[in-house]
Amino acid sequence: MNSSFDKRQNNAATHPAFLSVWDIQAYYGESYIVQGVSFNIHEGEILALLGRNGAGKTSTLRTIARMGDPQLKHGEIWLDHKPLHKMASHEAATNGIALVPEDRRIIPGLTVEENLQLAQIAPPIGWSLERVYELFPRLKERRKQEGVTLSGGEQQMLSIARALCRDIKVLLLDEPYEGLAPVIVQEIAKTLEIIRDQGITTIIVEQNAVAALKLADRAVILDTGTVVYDGSAKEVLEDEKLRAEYLAI
Ligand SMILES: Nc1ncnc2c1ncn2[C@@H]1O[C@H](COP(=O)(O)OP(=O)(O)OP(=O)(O)O)[C@@H](O)[C@H]1O
Ligand SMILES: [Mg+2]
Repeated sequence: MNSSFDKRQNNAATHPAFLSVWDIQAYYGESYIVQGVSFNIHEGEILALLGRNGAGKTSTLRTIARMGDPQLKHGEIWLDHKPLHKMASHEAATNGIALVPEDRRIIPGLTVEENLQLAQIAPPIGWSLERVYELFPRLKERRKQEGVTLSGGEQQMLSIARALCRDIKVLLLDEPYEGLAPVIVQEIAKTLEIIRDQGITTIIVEQNAVAALKLADRAVILDTGTVVYDGSAKEVLEDEKLRAEYLAI
């Protein structure tokens, strides 16, 4: 048992939750999309946030990261005793939330290394380049290459690596496996386990529910903007009825 795991256990015993999402309700204009979502995550846990297309997964991640759109109109989000629901997106980022969006947002015209360095401009600064390259040797090999010319899997790695270059506590991943070959999915999953073991808390949204459930400690399933399941990831993997009803797998 490593030390970060010990820390996780202690934290679970002394604090009810590290990230606590309570009855969040969010709108795009008049459209009521996130309809009262609640869940808790302990420090260092990986949570799979699942559900069919349009269930509200991306909207929930954007609400937690305080992107402004959708607009949070009710509920609370607490990260390590800090009220994220009262913060704008840049404050949420400074307090340790990082959202890796579906389109990865690699900055054109910059090399891999420049993309990483750009993330390290403003304090609080997170991982050093050495530490990032130790975790992602492929990025080290390609550090002089323009970021947007990387393969899909490498771009996903760069996008995660860039988040780690900031001092983050929670990593929000929106469909990190999208369009990637199974072998690359496995490689990224192993990396996410290492990141978890270093104490970072992760929410992973994925259409590839089986891969996400294998990685995750817990699962929350959304349906029309509400939580329909909150429990162990293993239980969802083993429950065919639940999978058929809410995940179509
Ligand atoms: N900018 C927007 N303006 C208005 N409605 C939106 C906007 N973005 C999303 N929606 C609507 O909100 C609902 C939830 O969308 P969301 O993108 O959160 O779902 P999702 O679970 O991430 O789906 P997918 O699996 O397809 O990515 C959908 O009905 C969608 O049409
Ligand atoms: Mg989505």
